[in-house]
Amino acid sequence: MEKTIALLPGDGIGKEVLKVTVDVLKAIEEHFHHQFQFQYGLIGGDAIDQTGTPLPDETVEICKNADAVLLGAVGGPKWDSNPPALRPEKGLLGIRKQLDLYANLRPIITFQSLLDESALKREYIDGVDFIVVRELTGGLYFGEPSERITKDGEEGAVDTLIYKRSEIKRIIVSAFEMASKRRKHVTSVDKANVLETSRLWREIAEEVAKDYPDVTLEHMLVDNAAMQLINAPKRFDVIVTENMFGDILSDEASMITGSLGMLPSASLSSTGLHLYEPVHGSAPDIAGQNIANPTAMILSAAMMLRHSFDLENEAKVLEDAVNQVLQSGKRTADLAKGGPSISTEQLAEEIKAIIAKSQTVSK
Ligand code: NAD
Ligand code: IPM
Ligand code: MN
Repeated sequence: MEKTIALLPGDGIGKEVLKVTVDVLKAIEEHFHHQFQFQYGLIGGDAIDQTGTPLPDETVEICKNADAVLLGAVGGPKWDSNPPALRPEKGLLGIRKQLDLYANLRPIITFQSLLDESALKREYIDGVDFIVVRELTGGLYFGEPSERITKDGEEGAVDTLIYKRSEIKRIIVSAFEMASKRRKHVTSVDKANVLETSRLWREIAEEVAKDYPDVTLEHMLVDNAAMQLINAPKRFDVIVTENMFGDILSDEASMITGSLGMLPSASLSSTGLHLYEPVHGSAPDIAGQNIANPTAMILSAAMMLRHSFDLENEAKVLEDAVNQVLQSGKRTADLAKGGPSISTEQLAEEIKAIIAKSQTVSK
């Protein structure tokens, strides 16, 4: 199979985890006789430094000419006091908007070999398997106005939480579609006791639910959901929620798996061109040390193989390889509890070695 993959490394550990993921993809390419063409694009702080903008037009073109996009992470202290339009995060929001990547899927699955690595007790997390469906192109992140204002004669600031019916409907439909192929349970998370956008969200969720008689819909307030994620994570199958709630709840949920460095995601678009990115950020505190956990990025690449290229077997081989390395007890520092650990590059080498020994199943 011939595919073009746009690579947007970004900043900090984004570069490190994407670099080794490309190596792993080259191992898949070679082993399964595919041809992957890699096209690099600038985004984030790196792009600001080199071109004066966090999302150069050329990057958007590279993405649009590709079959899928892999993104590392953006941001860092160097750019934290830049004006809003010149922040690295603007680049990330820009690519999500320009490619209409409205559905961000963040699966939370526990690994048997990491059950004792989590801060939560084994019996609470053994068997957890749910997915957060986060709305990604609307809500507080994109609402206007978003600016400094004067309020009652004082300095103030305003951000706007706004959703159109169509934006809510399409993400809820995505969640129901997903649930109908899973355990048929949707938890729609909102703040309907306070927010009008949430009350509209609930109304639309009820309407969509009528088209999926086999799927059960429950509504849950976001504060309660934050608690239930720790107290009873096994109760969830598909969680669907607005942009900011989904951002916060998924970082929280990463602790079930043991590390933020374990969580992949797929940002799916209306156009068929999808982007795959780890849930974590550029981790300036550990950048440049070759100690970041590349698993989230590597598993994001597995999601790409499955969703964008329909390479189910290759995706499984990659996921199994990650599993086998974890089972062997080898860990990056985030999961090693101060014990012996391996580097970002070493973890990728282990995965590559397993891929090279895997069975090739021709499609
Ligand atoms: P972060 O996700 O970068 O890091 C949070 C903590 O988790 C840090 O202690 C970090 O060392 C650790 N961590 C994250 N990923 C890890 C990995 N793969 N392996 C081991 N440890 C890992 O969040 P932050 O520190 O709040 O943000 C840092 C910068 O990243 C900010 O500029 C923020 O805007 C940006 N950010 C970008 C994205 C993205 O590009 N998708 C996501 C989140 C944050
Ligand atoms: C994420 C990040 C981004 C978000 C930031 C960097 C804009 O936290 O991808 O989860 O909030 O969406
Ligand atoms: Mn986040």
